[in-house]
Amino acid sequence: MSGRGWLIRVAYTGVMRCNVFGTGYLGATHAAGMAELGHDVIGVDVDAGKIAKLAAGDVPFFEPGLRKLLSDNLAAGRLRFTTDYDLATEHADLHFLGVGTPQKKGEYGADLRHVHSVIDELVPRLTRPSVIVGKSTVPVGTAADLGRRARALAAYGVDVEVAWNPEFLREGYAVQDTLHPDRIVLGVQPDSIRSEAAVRELYASLLAEGVPFLRTDLQTAELVKVSANAFLATKISFINAISEVCEIADADVTVLADALGFDPRIGRRFLNAGLGFGGGCLPKDIRAFMARAGELGAGNALAFLREVDSINMRRRTRMVELTTAACGGSLLGANIAVLGAAFKPESDDVRDSPALNVAGMLQLNGATVNVYDPEALENSRKVFPTLNYSTSVAEACDRADAVLVLTEWREFVELDPAELADVVRNRVIVDGRNCLDVARWQSAGWRVHCLGRRLESV
Ligand code: UDX
Repeated sequence: MSGRGWLIRVAYTGVMRCNVFGTGYLGATHAAGMAELGHDVIGVDVDAGKIAKLAAGDVPFFEPGLRKLLSDNLAAGRLRFTTDYDLATEHADLHFLGVGTPQKKGEYGADLRHVHSVIDELVPRLTRPSVIVGKSTVPVGTAADLGRRARALAAYGVDVEVAWNPEFLREGYAVQDTLHPDRIVLGVQPDSIRSEAAVRELYASLLAEGVPFLRTDLQTAELVKVSANAFLATKISFINAISEVCEIADADVTVLADALGFDPRIGRRFLNAGLGFGGGCLPKDIRAFMARAGELGAGNALAFLREVDSINMRRRTRMVELTTAACGGSLLGANIAVLGAAFKPESDDVRDSPALNVAGMLQLNGATVNVYDPEALENSRKVFPTLNYSTSVAEACDRADAVLVLTEWREFVELDPAELADVVRNRVIVDGRNCLDVARWQSAGWRVHCLGRRLESV
């Protein structure tokens, strides 16, 4: 089929067929989201267990709203899941790449083996002009490399374009971010003839709502994503660095953040001081960005990200110090309740979770640690089997010498200090996320310590 014929088919039908390769967090959400927009979607993965679960309407991770999106679209027949690449390539000519790009073991750089293996499996099977749209976060230059790789693997006469459409979704808001994105960025190769039309058609209903669409080259699109994450990480580490000064100067970082936030050039979001950032994106993405900049000879430009990373990691050791002080100078034999294990609320993700990291350090320092989290217990047990896990706040706090709030789940923010007072051994609470109403806890007889705020003063 000629390039023009392909475009006409796309523009004419409105409902498009597409595949999403990789059905982890990003891919599964994107597949369900595209089906919700009315398209006919197949999610493809090499993990048969994951595919079986998704096909049965079961989301293998916690994400508000995703289960309903999945089951509605499976029932409507717009969404299917398979491990069969032949079935997928027969189904559609628009293919999304949503596989993971984890940090390499022992290095800062990103591991691209999953992205490469999708290209290697997919491209030789293509028989019609096709567009492969990457969504995974990759080092700048990857998309152009994948384009060359794809052209080398494609059958004679089969034209394959590679485009890049970075994904900005946040865990906990993935459905909303997919169905109502802030912007759509599409990087295309210099000689592209069909990527923009295909992607515009797919996202037509979003574009009609006025979502900004930015067409760029491949490398700019790749850099937009890592720059956004680097900026967010920097903003969090900025306020945490200021909180270190506040703690010594006896100033209140939470009031300071509110005051800064009224300046529209600064904004209040991502200025919550506390235990800092974790998860599967920000930490690994800033490290991969530094590694790539170094390879390109621009290492100095991103040297500040090393400081951003180290401010962030320092929050975790500071939390251990603060807890030690709150327990009278030693953790040996202390009974510590840790509320929160997920890297942030509304998520069961414990990848590089500051909360779980602190829980582990407390145990290494001789404390008995009882962890409770509303959603992340199962995942926590897998990565940290030696900690004690409780099934409720009360159980975790039973005869505790100190209670730590390390993830700001609403359940913890709304705890009743009077009710918890009779459960613990000592009414000592350490707020690692600056999310508690200090006066309320104090008036119920608790000693309150806050990360980044002078403890004696609150
Ligand atoms: C992030 C980006 O926001 C998203 O655009 C990208 O696609 C993936 O990475 P996510 O990892 O889901 O999303 O989490 P995010 O909400 O950004 O929070 C990251 C971390 O920063 C969490 O550990 C959170 O607790 C912490 N954080 C956030 C703070 O410590 N202070 C803040 O003010 C905000």
